[in-house]
Amino acid sequence: MTTPLTAAFPPPGAELTRRRAVDADAERIHRLSSLFVVDGALRERSAAAIADAVKEFTVVDADGDLIGCVGMRRPPDDAGSQVLYNFCVHPAHQRRGIGRVLLDQVLTDAAADGAARVYTATTGAGAWFERFGFVPTTPDAAPRSWVDALDPRRSSRVYVQPLRELGAAP
Ligand SMILES: CC(C)(COP(=O)(O)OP(=O)(O)OC[C@H]1O[C@@H](n2cnc3c(N)ncnc32)[C@H](O)[C@@H]1OP(=O)(O)O)[C@@H](O)C(=O)NCCC(=O)NCCS
Repeated sequence: MTTPLTAAFPPPGAELTRRRAVDADAERIHRLSSLFVVDGALRERSAAAIADAVKEFTVVDADGDLIGCVGMRRPPDDAGSQVLYNFCVHPAHQRRGIGRVLLDQVLTDAAADGAARVYTATTGAGAWFERFGFVPTTPDAAPRSWVDALDPRRSSRVYVQPLRELGAAP
């Protein structure tokens, strides 16, 4: 589904939409993500790896330019968890609420899918994640298959956000 975002934050003239990624987005997700691999904020992923996983991504378009993306994956060994990865907003569009809109969407989707918690790993955006409800945790508490696949050279910190039980009072 495509959701217009112009009411959520005023863009400088561009029409912003948030939607699930389609196959044709894979190359643009890869190109956007590459901007953050250089400084180590994101782990390098090949174009083929992103194409294989493109259905896991939610993206934001500005008049057809892909300016934000985030992947969500359900680890095979933990049905109650999802993992947020490859989250980025184009540098020219940061601090305008786009990351927050993307995060809200994928947390809502994860809760609707029955997830009880969402994990992520980051080298530098810990303060941002903490601001939006994530708390630091130890890798031991996270899904083993995901932790084992983290690159130890990156020394990422692991965070978790517990999701409200479906059906629980707000
Ligand atoms: C993390 C990231 C996706 C946030 O995207 P964004 O669109 O800039 O975030 P938002 O504009 O929605 O941020 C909302 C709020 O957080 C604040 N904020 C932005 N970056 C922040 C940071 N690094 N630390 C703390 N607060 C931050 C904003 O000022 C804003 O505050 P406000 O509502 O009071 O104005 C973006 O900074 C990014 O692409 N970082 C590089 C990649 C990365 O590190 N990804 C995480 C690893 S998966």
